[in-house]
Amino acid sequence: MRNYFPNKTSSNLSKKMLIQPFFVDQRLKTKKVIKGMGLNYSWSKNSILSGIESDLKKGIKNFLLFVVPKDKQKLPEDFSFHYEIIKKIKKQFKNDITLLVDSCICSITPDGHCGITHKKKINLKKTHYVLGLAANTYLEAGADIIAPSDMMKNTTRYLRKIFQENGFSEAQIMSYSTKFKSNFYGPFRNIASSSPKGFDRSSYQLPIANRNKAIENSVINAAQGANYLMVKPGMTSLDLIADIKKETLLPTGAYQVSGEYASLQLLHSNKLGNYLELLLESLQVFSRAKADFIISYGARDIAKYL
Ligand code: PBG
Repeated sequence: MRNYFPNKTSSNLSKKMLIQPFFVDQRLKTKKVIKGMGLNYSWSKNSILSGIESDLKKGIKNFLLFVVPKDKQKLPEDFSFHYEIIKKIKKQFKNDITLLVDSCICSITPDGHCGITHKKKINLKKTHYVLGLAANTYLEAGADIIAPSDMMKNTTRYLRKIFQENGFSEAQIMSYSTKFKSNFYGPFRNIASSSPKGFDRSSYQLPIANRNKAIENSVINAAQGANYLMVKPGMTSLDLIADIKKETLLPTGAYQVSGEYASLQLLHSNKLGNYLELLLESLQVFSRAKADFIISYGARDIAKYL
């Protein structure tokens, strides 16, 4: 099985370890600037190929896709727009790109939660059913790696089981295995139209102060069959990366999330710092902390310097 993000042997930052997140929004006719997020856009179905083409020219090969559908669904079962987008991208770029797809449903559920809720609680059975349906559809469309960010109990185990049943025994999973409940996801939730309503995400995302629980969650995901692990937000989780790798021996990366990234842009726009230098410094520290891959909204800006 191919290892897209092998354990690194040096602490140098490299292009190969960078992953560029991007959004495709079904509500749009053309690309739309995302305020405060530099060269990040919400793409329409018809503009996305040109966006990827432009990133490829900058030296980016790995992409993490978020799809924002136009309609909400109480029990999401229609992932046809997701399918269409993934298929279109892979048909055009084939294995010139590695396409990771976030399989969370928070941009589809009417209350913005990452699972199916009933009376302010997650219904795990229904949630797994929907997450499995989504992930399976993305594999059928040609996704290279499924990235479940929902943080529900035993999602990785559930996905492994249904992938096996559906003939995807080689499917790869990048688990958001140590993902905290965080204040740094603000810009993302605006873009993905996924702000939680009624109650927050503390019943399924990790508490920031509990180190053992944070590491344990990655260990559990490794045991359930994840191929790659992740800490998120990145800059507030640097201390966990090496320990997770030691416990699991799996490639482990970091996600510099939207709020962290936007803060670098804000320093720049307020003339309190230089964006590119801030970005390079922050990503070098991820690398020094032994991240095997880095997801950053600034990946395309930094690639040409590496
Ligand atoms: C979906 C998801 C979130 C992010 C990635 N996947 C938001 C959340 O959990 O609230 C955050 C990414 C970012 O802020 O850049 N569950």
